[in-house]
Amino acid sequence: MEILKLINLSKTYEGKVSYKVLKNINLTIREGEFVAIMGPSGSGKSTLLNVISTIDKPTSGQVILNDKQPHNLKGDHLSSFRRKELGFVFQNFNLLDTLTIGENIVLPLTLEGLPVNDMDEKLNILSKKLGIENIINKRTFEISGGQAQRAAIARGIINSPSILLADEPTGNLDSKSTDDVMNLFTKINNENKVTTLMVTHEPYTASFCNRIIFIKDGEIFREIYKNKSREEFYEEILLVLSQIGGAR
Ligand SMILES: Nc1ncnc2c1ncn2[C@@H]1O[C@H](COP(=O)(O)OP(=O)(O)OP(=O)(O)O)[C@@H](O)[C@H]1O
Ligand SMILES: [Mg+2]
Repeated sequence: MEILKLINLSKTYEGKVSYKVLKNINLTIREGEFVAIMGPSGSGKSTLLNVISTIDKPTSGQVILNDKQPHNLKGDHLSSFRRKELGFVFQNFNLLDTLTIGENIVLPLTLEGLPVNDMDEKLNILSKKLGIENIINKRTFEISGGQAQRAAIARGIINSPSILLADEPTGNLDSKSTDDVMNLFTKINNENKVTTLMVTHEPYTASFCNRIIFIKDGEIFREIYKNKSREEFYEEILLVLSQIGGAR
């Protein structure tokens, strides 16, 4: 089943000189896929993710997510769509310091007005599954970056969204925490069939995904699939990056 479809998607920023950041992007993501978007700095990766997540509007073209067109929704309908259909993971975790980790994780359910007992039950099941039950009563300053990102992933999927979107989720992590976080993304993709789309400039992080879309100057440059070991896939990613040029 197709979860996300982008049709002739373009984005132009108007200014003294108008600047076409995304040019006729056509892309389909199927249920259960684990996809990375890579490309040089300024190639339009975050813009693409922001247009998909409705943070930003396309100039032309369509975003179809779970048979709905979020950019046609307004007000409460749009907020409700975001809460139900989308999960977010950010580079800097975006956990609230005033809440416990557990309260942070159930925040999307709080916003939905779910009864406390139901929230506690969901939190217990999910935190055990993700191996973070030991930190749910802690505060943000008492946990590591890797633990914070695992908590943020839990928050991102507690609502069972149609798609989990992540922008540079390992950008602030050391290599051990990067492993933990990428193993967790892999686990929830394999076991819970969470469809995941992440932007990363790190070949190692991308090598955990099953498919990589390379963008250059706002256009799809190339796509590759992992029908091989992670190590071989990593080598293939390096090769494409060397062809694309301008990579960090
Ligand atoms: N709100 C905006 N107004 C004008 N230009 C913008 C805006 N947001 C982004 N841009 C420009 O669009 C281009 C693409 O930006 P984007 O953030 O999507 O790149 P990126 O691929 O995510 O880069 P990085 O790897 O550095 O995060 C850049 O040239 C940027 O300066
Ligand atoms: Mg970016």
